[in-house]
Amino acid sequence: MWEIDTTYHNDLQGVFDRLLDKKEVLKNQRPLPAIALRKIKESLMIEWTYNSNSIEGNTLSLRETQMVLQEGITIKGKSLREHFEAKNHESAIHHLYTLVENTTYALKSSDILSLHGYILRSIEDEFAGRLRNGGVRISGANFTPPNAKKVSGLLDELIDFVQNNPAGLNDIELATVFHHKFVWIHPFFDGNGRTVRLAMNLLLMRKGFPPAIILKNDRKKYYEALNQANRGNYHKLILLISQALERTLNIYISALPGSDYEYKEISNLVEEESLPYGQEYISLLARQGKIDAYKEGRNWLTTKEAIEDYMTNRKRKR
Ligand SMILES: Nc1ncnc2c1ncn2[C@@H]1O[C@H](COP(=O)(O)OP(=O)(O)OP(=O)(O)O)[C@@H](O)[C@H]1O
Ligand SMILES: [Mg+2]
Repeated sequence: MWEIDTTYHNDLQGVFDRLLDKKEVLKNQRPLPAIALRKIKESLMIEWTYNSNSIEGNTLSLRETQMVLQEGITIKGKSLREHFEAKNHESAIHHLYTLVENTTYALKSSDILSLHGYILRSIEDEFAGRLRNGGVRISGANFTPPNAKKVSGLLDELIDFVQNNPAGLNDIELATVFHHKFVWIHPFFDGNGRTVRLAMNLLLMRKGFPPAIILKNDRKKYYEALNQANRGNYHKLILLISQALERTLNIYISALPGSDYEYKEISNLVEEESLPYGQEYISLLARQGKIDAYKEGRNWLTTKEAIEDYMTNRKRKR
C-alpha cells in the first residue's frame, strides 16, 4: 500500500521546477505588502470555502458565500445547513492557520480530527471529529473503502508515511499522495473530502506554499484523477494539484511590487501577439503543465514570456 509508482516524475519535472522557483520568488520577497496580503488571504478563504463546499454539493454561489461570511447575511431559499457549512469551513481555515504558524508542528491525527470537528459542527455533531465505526461507500468510485476496524491503524500509518517520507517524494507529491490515501481510507462517515482538502494544504503551507484550491469546475477531472490514483497512477492527480498550486502562487506573485507578467486568455494572446504556435497547441501545453499557465473558470491563461521560455528550453534540449 505504501509503494508509490513514480514513473510520472520525468513528465512533471518541469512543473515541479517552476513551482519551486515561484515559491522561492515569494520567499525572497516576504513580507508582502500587508494590505495586499490581507486582501489575498480573505479572498482565498472565500474561494476555498466556496469551491470545497460546492464540490461536496453545497449550492451557495461564490457571491452568496461571500455575503454569508463577510456580511453575515442569510440567503433566501438556502438551507440552514448550507449556511453552517460555509461558516464552519471558514472556522476550519482559521484553525488551520494557527496550526501552520506553530513552528514546532508535526502532523498528528488529533489535528485531522479537530479539522473534521469544525467541518461537521452543528450539522452532524454526533460524528464531528470522530472516526467512522461502520462501512461506507463512495458513489462513482472504483473501490470500497476499508473496514471500519482498520481505519484508525491505517490513518496512523498514513501519518507515519508523511512524517518519514520513505519514498523520498517532494512536497507536492507527498501532499498529493496523502490526499489520495486519505480519501481511500475514508476515515469519516461524511466530510472526508472537505477535511482532506484542508489537511493537504496544512502540509503544503507548512512548507511555505500557499493553499492549493481545487476548483468546482474541475470536479469531474478530480474524481477521475482519484480513480486513476486508486489504480496506482498518480500522474493526473499530481498535475491537478500542481496546477491548483500554481494558480495561487501566481495570485501572490502578481501582488508583488513591480510584478508585470500579464496573464491573458490564450485566444486573446494568440490574436494580440505574433506567436509560433496556434491556440490549440498552446492550450495543450497549458493542460499538460508544459508552460506556465493556470485555469480561471473555463479558460486557460498564460503569458507571452511563458511561451518564449518554452521555445528557448526546447532549443537548448535539442
Ligand atoms: N473515485 C474515488 N476514489 C477515491 N476517493 C474519491 C473518489 N471519488 C470521490 N472521492 C473522495 O471522496 C470524497 C467524498 O467523501 P465525503 O462525502 O465523505 O466528503 P464530503 O466532504 O462530504 O464531500 P466531498 O468530498 O464531495 O466534498 C470526495 O471529495 C473525494 O475526495
Ligand atoms: Mg459528503
